[in-house]
Amino acid sequence: MTRDPPGCEAAVRLDRADPTGRFRDRFHLPAAPAGHDGVYLCGHSLGLQPRSVAARVERELQRWAQLGIRAYFEEPAPWYPYSETVRPGLARLVGATPEEVVAMNALTVNLHLMLATFYQPTATRRRILIEDGAFPSDRYAVRSQIELHRLDPDDTLVRVAPRDGERTLRTDDIESRLDRDGDAIALVLLPGVQFQTGQRLDLQRITAAARRCGCRVGFDLAHAVGNVPLALHDWDVDFAVWCSYKYLNAGPGAVAGCFIHARHHASHGLSRLAGWWGTDPDTRFVMRPDDRFMPQPGAAGWQISTPPILALAPLGASLEMFDEVGLDALRDKSLRLTGWLRTLLNDLGPDVVEVVTPVDPESHGAQLSLRWLGGDPKAVVEELSTEGIVCDFREPDVIRVAPVPLYNTFIDVWRFVDALRRRARR
Ligand SMILES: Cc1ncc(COP(=O)(O)O)c(C=O)c1O
Repeated sequence: MTRDPPGCEAAVRLDRADPTGRFRDRFHLPAAPAGHDGVYLCGHSLGLQPRSVAARVERELQRWAQLGIRAYFEEPAPWYPYSETVRPGLARLVGATPEEVVAMNALTVNLHLMLATFYQPTATRRRILIEDGAFPSDRYAVRSQIELHRLDPDDTLVRVAPRDGERTLRTDDIESRLDRDGDAIALVLLPGVQFQTGQRLDLQRITAAARRCGCRVGFDLAHAVGNVPLALHDWDVDFAVWCSYKYLNAGPGAVAGCFIHARHHASHGLSRLAGWWGTDPDTRFVMRPDDRFMPQPGAAGWQISTPPILALAPLGASLEMFDEVGLDALRDKSLRLTGWLRTLLNDLGPDVVEVVTPVDPESHGAQLSLRWLGGDPKAVVEELSTEGIVCDFREPDVIRVAPVPLYNTFIDVWRFVDALRRRARR
């Protein structure tokens, strides 16, 4: 189906005027059931595959086939320093210097590594502040780290939650909690964009409040990186972790990322879980008789194991596209896409759908979370998928939908709302 459906003229005009529209063709769009146009609005869960990825992975397969172990050192693009090549691109996305970021492991593993370093409870300051609705993996990680220190998680966690009758967090409430309990809080761990509500938190204000109280502060940026502007260095964040399979489009289980602020790099008081890839690459193969771990400077010193080259190749391809288009242009389009989506949803009427994500453009990224009031939201998500419209449902009652500016269009947004409109009328 290639003809535009009636009623979507405004969307067609918006797409024609979109300066970043050409990037859509650089992605594989999943096939839709026969007779339907596919609409993929699930980049908050798994980003689409850039067309450039296959050649990048194939290149490394060829090097492996033709060079074997020599591929580690032979130009061009030797594997030994391969993970270094993605650091500048990642740094630009999170507002850091290349030395402050590293691509390694998966998100939760990196969170454990960061907790091992930055969560050092003392007799008077042992608590961790998290949000009530934190992603399950973060909760498991935090609870298990607290237990490693022989503390009781239920006594140790401080939770912030939306007020009664509200769905999203207020920065004022986080600040008041820190003012009240900050002396006992060792670490603040919050998301950049909340996975369920799509709320973007004010990381700058939260970091300032946490640091005023002497707390360390780290962020889970799974839903923020490649989605919203970040300035981790200038905000003075201690650490951050993210995955690369959502807005970074680096593939299922892609190599994740980690930020550690430069002011910690020279600090010898910080302990860490160590492995040989964290050492100076020039002396990595030297067998020290004293077993002393000599980390390389910067976030790369937290690496443990040999980087997975085949999994890093897609990340490199994806970051090049971000550099080409620029996050400012993407954010600009993203706000127009979500603005248009919200307008169309509001037109359906307050008894049909409620948008949970805050209205203020500063308080959200590409994702809007909806409450479908016209019936069972889970069933609606399943029905939409039979028409090739992909979004998702999260317990207890939220439909998540993310028009991703790199590959979604205003027509995609229109088609999604049109499909809801048809169901609302039934
Ligand atoms: C907010 C958030 N944190 C953590 C994770 C876990 O990531 P991983 O499985 O890569 O460790 C996810 C996964 O979707 C997530 O959405």
